[in-house]
Amino acid sequence: MKLNIALLAGDGIGPEVIDQAVKVCDAIAKKYDHEISWKPALTGAAAIDAVGEPYPDETHEICASADAVLFGAIGHPRFDNDPSAKVRPEQGLLKMRQKLGLFANVRPTFTFPSLIDKSPLKRDRIEGTDLIILRELTGGIYFGERGRKDDGNTAFDTMTYQRFEIERLARKGFDMAMKRSKKLCCVDKANVLESSRLWRETVQGLEKEYPEVEVSYEFIDAVAMRLIQWPKGYDVIITANLFGDILTDEASVIAGSMGLMPSSSVGSKVSLYEPIHGSYPQAAGKDIANPLATVLSAAMLFEDLELVTEAEEIRRVVNKSLAEGYVTEDLADGGKSYKTSEVGDWLASNI
Ligand code: IPM
Ligand code: MN
Repeated sequence: MKLNIALLAGDGIGPEVIDQAVKVCDAIAKKYDHEISWKPALTGAAAIDAVGEPYPDETHEICASADAVLFGAIGHPRFDNDPSAKVRPEQGLLKMRQKLGLFANVRPTFTFPSLIDKSPLKRDRIEGTDLIILRELTGGIYFGERGRKDDGNTAFDTMTYQRFEIERLARKGFDMAMKRSKKLCCVDKANVLESSRLWRETVQGLEKEYPEVEVSYEFIDAVAMRLIQWPKGYDVIITANLFGDILTDEASVIAGSMGLMPSSSVGSKVSLYEPIHGSYPQAAGKDIANPLATVLSAAMLFEDLELVTEAEEIRRVVNKSLAEGYVTEDLADGGKSYKTSEVGDWLASNI
């Protein structure tokens, strides 16, 4: 197969982890006879420095015409402590999600047999966890009306949802649930928020179209607790943008490391694949960042293109590296560790 993949390395450790995913994908392409044409493009602080804006039109053109987008990370500390900054790297990510219509963010949470004891949670609670958080990604409080009034002394952000936004996300959730254990949980704050009541109403309206799916409705605060208390109680979770942002960071604790969790963002056209961790600026340029989340995101990319054997091959070598201790320092427990680039080379050469 001929594949045209937009490559957005971004900021911080982004370029280093992306390099490893490229090595792995190229090894897969060689083994399974595909031809990947990488199309690098600028995003984030790197793009602000080069052209003054975090998601330039040229980058959008490259993404929109690609078969898939592989993305590293975005964010730079020089903007975090400057509340007056007019352009921020994160705006690039939000603009990209919106312009590419990536309304659903798929964030799986699972455990790795060799890492169970890395999690601060007890083995019997987490072993066998396999859930997906489906986060709405182009609406809600991230994109609602915001501003200041009273001479800057009052600030507001609004959580707005339209029925069609909830419905298209919920349908993806139902479809996923049908392929899995047929359990769907809608997470909201319907005891307080009107937008959450519209979520419930919309999801309830879809229930009759999916009679085999068992649907539950839970409040976000309670789920924040139950998710780490008994993660095996969940299968597919659907939730609003901000709630999903928070829950997915929390869920990464179950796997033992944020450096391991992949994600995809899908809409009606091109899809994007990225690790859920951020740009981790303290580690940038040191060749120590864990590349596995990005490599596993590439596995999701192949899977969505129906190249399932290729995806499984990537997961196999990742598991092998974990089992054999060929890992970066965050997973080494003070024992022998390897550089980011060494892990990438090892994975590629084991394909
Ligand atoms: C994420 C990130 C982003 C988000 C930031 C960087 C804007 O935290 O992808 O989860 O909040 O969506
Ligand atoms: Mn986040």
